[in-house]
Amino acid sequence: MRTFTLGLMFLLTFPAAAAPPAGEMALIERGRYLLEIGGCHDCHTPGYTMQGGNAPKDAWLTGDRLGWQGAWGTTYAPNLRLRLNDMDLSTWVAFARTMKSRPPMPYWALNRMSETDLSAIWHVVKWLGKAGDPAPAALPAGAAAAGPVVRFPEPPPSAKTSRPD
Ligand code: HEC
Repeated sequence: MRTFTLGLMFLLTFPAAAAPPAGEMALIERGRYLLEIGGCHDCHTPGYTMQGGNAPKDAWLTGDRLGWQGAWGTTYAPNLRLRLNDMDLSTWVAFARTMKSRPPMPYWALNRMSETDLSAIWHVVKWLGKAGDPAPAALPAGAAAAGPVVRFPEPPPSAKTSRPD
């Protein structure tokens, strides 16, 4: 039913284009689901968290101007619509498997994601296409940010934990 709904949405959005084949449609739908339950929209889609998990499709993953500030400087969730549409599938899988990012990006989630799920995320972003502008560039520690930021205090050493292997 959801495949049908998504297929219908695709046809309504792009009436002149043919809907992707069923196998690809299933990957697109899986990717769409992963973006929602994997928390990707929370940071990479502007306004998503403030709108209770709702944002127009056009805004999905277009990055955010909200800065995340802490000991690492200030980072901004990049525009993944631009980033992933510039990579082919194998480049994306290799990148996601090995990437390290500054906080608060949970890069370990991508490092540990199955190849099928990484492929699903790539397929949905390809399906969405390029949109939006690049997010602001990250700033080094101590540099003042022009826009709004969320500040992370440095936790006391006793509060730091490490992951047991
Ligand atoms: C808590 C906020 C947050 C969440 C949740 C989050 N991200 Fe990020 N993400 C960021 C920030 C901030 C950066 C930039 C980090 C930096 O500049 O070092 C980033 C960077 C990235 C990058 C690297 C882009 C590049 O050009 O180097 C990718 C890919 C990415 N995120 C994908 C995802 C995906 C997929 C999910 C969901 C599974 C996700 N992110 C969840 C905040 C988040």
